[in-house]
Amino acid sequence: MADQASHAHAAPVDGKSRRDFLLIASSAVGAVGVVSAIVPFVDSMSPAADTLAMASTEVDISSIQVGQSVTVAWRGKPIFIRRRTAAEIEQAAKDDGAELRDKQTDASRVQKAEWLILIGVCTHLGCVPGGQKPGDDRGEFNGWKCACHGSQYDTSGRIRKGPAPKNLEVPPYAFLTDTSIRIG
Ligand code: FES
Repeated sequence: MADQASHAHAAPVDGKSRRDFLLIASSAVGAVGVVSAIVPFVDSMSPAADTLAMASTEVDISSIQVGQSVTVAWRGKPIFIRRRTAAEIEQAAKDDGAELRDKQTDASRVQKAEWLILIGVCTHLGCVPGGQKPGDDRGEFNGWKCACHGSQYDTSGRIRKGPAPKNLEVPPYAFLTDTSIRIG
């Protein structure tokens, strides 16, 4: 869509390319409208069992190495799973004593210190912060940094700098075994 838009702007404004662009734009809007109209209908018609099945996600975490992060989807949201290093765990505990905007201890945010599980949605305006992929800018606190407006989160996912008001949220989850978790 962005390509088509920039192409249309780059082309001479001869009337035709602009009309083409408007046609494409309005059919895309129409399609989005149809999708969002269907979703509430399906939701309200689903039997409880279906809704429950969709409401949780099981994740095999056995292949995640220390220091590695993976992202999985749960209810349409990115879930950040980070297997923290000893240094990251130590830093998170030390930062319990820092000046925190949304005061929570690291221990209250994890079930097992090595595994930090978060909803990867910035509490400012809902962007997905960077920090999951190798080479990402993790910000000054070695956690996550939101490229949109610069919020920075620490190794416990707590907000430390920038406009976001709250820590990255911890989703409901449970360890089914040592190597698998259920989110939701
Ligand atoms: S959405 Fe993350 S800083 Fe604005």
